[in-house]
Amino acid sequence: MSRITCLVLSLCLGLAAGACTDDSSGITSEEVVCPPASTLNYNNFGQAFVTTHCLSCHAAKERPLLGSQAAVTANRAAIIREAVISTRMPEDADMAIEDRRQLGEWLACGAP
Ligand code: HEC
Repeated sequence: MSRITCLVLSLCLGLAAGACTDDSSGITSEEVVCPPASTLNYNNFGQAFVTTHCLSCHAAKERPLLGSQAAVTANRAAIIREAVISTRMPEDADMAIEDRRQLGEWLACGAP
């Protein structure tokens, strides 16, 4: 369920809107670390990852645009917040926790 749908439902049904944030389902912020031996980079990981999971919406339609390495780097904090620590993104799709962990590793290393 999207956050908007959840917020609308919670308004109509009187549920706690706080239940819409999904903040607990990703990995914890302490787990978003760059291991010294990390080999993930844009060419072997990031570009394909973003293309598969994000660009159907974030190539042109939705902000932030994530279609280049520079754009991803500039939005690292927001991406970690939305797709690694929480599961708000990708909107309306599942993404495995192991994928979120790898995304967090790459971003924590500076999205090289
Ligand atoms: C099906 C469409 C869709 C997909 C796929 C998608 N997003 Fe989004 N994204 C949105 C929409 C719509 C918004 C703006 C509304 C919102 O915040 O809910 C958004 C907002 C965002 C924001 C800004 C949120 C804020 O409040 O600052 C970030 C960061 C983000 N997405 C990251 C990602 C990442 C990373 C992926 C891939 C792992 C992704 N999104 C996949 C639709 C999508």
